[in-house]
Amino acid sequence: MPHTPTTLFYPPLLPSLMQPVVVSIGGSILVPKASDVDSVIDIAALLDDMSEKRKLYVVVGGGRYARTYIGFGRNLGAEERHLDRVGIEFTRLNADLLRLALADRNLPERIPKTVKGAHALGKNHDLVVMGGTVPGHTTDHVSALLAREVGAELLVNATSVDGVYTADPYKDPKARRMEHISYAKLLKLVKDAEGKAGAHVPFDPKGTRLMAELKIPLIIVDGTDLDALQQAIEGDASSGTLVN
Ligand code: UTP
Repeated sequence: MPHTPTTLFYPPLLPSLMQPVVVSIGGSILVPKASDVDSVIDIAALLDDMSEKRKLYVVVGGGRYARTYIGFGRNLGAEERHLDRVGIEFTRLNADLLRLALADRNLPERIPKTVKGAHALGKNHDLVVMGGTVPGHTTDHVSALLAREVGAELLVNATSVDGVYTADPYKDPKARRMEHISYAKLLKLVKDAEGKAGAHVPFDPKGTRLMAELKIPLIIVDGTDLDALQQAIEGDASSGTLVN
């Protein structure tokens, strides 16, 4: 059987793809190991390349260090809003790290703190990198808000799993990756996981709800697989899961 890619746009580079694409990159994808910055360099090179063809807005998550420090703060009895601020600082540090790896590129001097600020910078730059904004949500929701703000055609979530599975792939050997899922079904899946300690969801419930309202397609893809990430930014969801 010939391979039929799950493309949103065929051929993949329709002029319509000149509309902005928002890419949400989990902190654990950007810095998977404490020992080197190879992933940062590779992801930066890919984004640099891809942003020559279309405007890219990138939102970076907090990753392992954010989780560790939030844990420290919680053990010290800090309030959730304060812990959120700690998390936001880490998302911005990661955004800055990515920006450092793109030093040769004429990137905005600063990391925008709001989606409106990011949009304003996007008027003069093809690649804009930001982290979190305010307490009370995650960078998944920030990326959905940014998609709304800039009128994105597509949101790509580069995460640590290669898509949405029929069941938890770590627990159920029969679990298989779905090539496509509706927002309604994704919302049910992520809501069921909400509130379960340690649950990792492919996209958070707030972000999923907003994306469903916006009717902007979302591709969930393994961000450690650079070919898959590139395909996804081009609108080809065949290595991940297309949500729309
Ligand atoms: P992340 O977006 O990285 O959270 O922000 P996450 O989804 O828990 O992490 P990953 O994707 O699994 O790695 C880290 C934390 O920073 C705070 C929240 O506490 C969040 O859990 N945060 C982040 C905010 O409060 N506001 C923001 O805009 C972003």
